[in-house]
Amino acid sequence: MEKTMDVEKTIDQWNADFTNNAKKPLQDLSQYNTESLEWLMMEHYQFSFRNCEFLWIAAQTTGAFDTDIVKKELIRNYNEENGHAAMYKAALKKVGSDVEAREEFTPTTKFLDSIGELCARDPSSVLGTMFATETAAIFEHQVFRAISEEVIARREAGNSGKHLVGFHDLHLDGVEQSHKDELGIFLRGLYQDQSVVAGEGDRPTIHPQQALEGGKEAIDLMKAWWVNLFAEMNKKNKTPAMG
Ligand SMILES: [Fe+2]
Ligand SMILES: [Fe+2]
Repeated sequence: MEKTMDVEKTIDQWNADFTNNAKKPLQDLSQYNTESLEWLMMEHYQFSFRNCEFLWIAAQTTGAFDTDIVKKELIRNYNEENGHAAMYKAALKKVGSDVEAREEFTPTTKFLDSIGELCARDPSSVLGTMFATETAAIFEHQVFRAISEEVIARREAGNSGKHLVGFHDLHLDGVEQSHKDELGIFLRGLYQDQSVVAGEGDRPTIHPQQALEGGKEAIDLMKAWWVNLFAEMNKKNKTPAMG
């Protein structure tokens, strides 16, 4: 008999299902006009813009655990992400995409507000939420690196586009993997049939079911957000582009 997957692997599996699906419409970027690809990048920038706020709230919430190791990891992550939104904004500007000129897309606002709410729940579910969003960050930087390259090629902006590609490379070069792994450690070897797992060494006391729930809710929100993003992309794509 196969033993059930632990909490880390379960959330990983849910994430893999979500990202494998979300990647499909992005396999052939030639089907989208430049306007809709640019629009998608600017929606992703919104996550970057709110990211530090999420990490800060999550760090405070996980301070309620009986050890401060998760809080410390989230503060390390916060410090690493600090300044990245400004970097992203500047890099987008260099390829002709001005985030200041963006019109609000309500599903993105609602999605980000909901993630913010998840960051303020009980510490175990916040741990699951942050593990899930850090895992999805790897997927995001992969797809947005490819989208950036497509837009840069179409605009013949190779030189000025180096910063944008570099921004995604910086994250793919171990940063996001370490954010994911350093949180995953706490969920390793925990199972959903345990109502509570007592702290051991540095690891705090964790409620596996709450951690799973926090991960699940974050992934469901991300799934729904991408459905909305693709629907809007298709709408924009039907409008003849200005070039
Ligand atoms: Fe970042
Ligand atoms: Fe991250």
